[in-house]
Amino acid sequence: MRVPFIAGNWKMFKNRAEAREFAEEFKKLYKDTDVQTAICAPFTDLETLVEAFAGTDIKVGAQNVHFADEGAYTGEVSVAMLEDIGVDFCIVGHSERRQYFAETDETVNLKLKKLLTGAIRPIMCVGESLDERDAGSAFDRVKSQLQLGLADIDAKDTARIVIAYEPIWAIGTGRTATPEQAEEMCAFIRNTLIELYDEDTADEMIIQYGGSVKPANATDIMNMDEIDGALVGGASLKAKDFMEIIDF
Ligand code: 13P
Repeated sequence: MRVPFIAGNWKMFKNRAEAREFAEEFKKLYKDTDVQTAICAPFTDLETLVEAFAGTDIKVGAQNVHFADEGAYTGEVSVAMLEDIGVDFCIVGHSERRQYFAETDETVNLKLKKLLTGAIRPIMCVGESLDERDAGSAFDRVKSQLQLGLADIDAKDTARIVIAYEPIWAIGTGRTATPEQAEEMCAFIRNTLIELYDEDTADEMIIQYGGSVKPANATDIMNMDEIDGALVGGASLKAKDFMEIIDF
């Protein structure tokens, strides 16, 4: 059985004091549910959150990482540095990184492989643009992101990878994919994983939906068979909203 996994992605929001404030409020609101949860925060907040959530079930994730062990990569952070802080997850290939920071399927693949050498679980983002959806190429696009992003990754490692389907047109726009649209693509992703690996491997992998998830639509989305979780942007910035989503 796949354990549902709902993660927040704070993007470039919250300083340390705000992160601490969120953590204290969230811990008070937090009820034990059957859902695994994590907050993926800016690098500068990670240590604060790891300390604040110590001894709880709430996990912490980063939003990016470099694929080299170390080196002259100004502005970058390595897997070992994230491990040193004690994060559990790391988002890879978010559409905002693909769009603004030239992240490609090839760098996504390198980052996944590097993360899989350690204990941090990657959350690999895939998803089509509005143009691609309108042109009828959404499924091809997502398939190729999976094929290239997961290239040369062994079936034995895939259970640690979370796939997040985030249609770009639904991110921060208030325009959520309908639960049926999200389910259709998540089922397609599962089938693609069967093609790339096998049924048992695909069955184990968590597939999240992301894009304008909020308390009002979380239940409908989470009730879909092939959707195992959510990656939540804006609504994860408020402890009360995020808790309502987890308690869908
Ligand atoms: P929103 O929930 O703000 O639409 O963001 C989705 C997202 O990009 C999560 O990674």
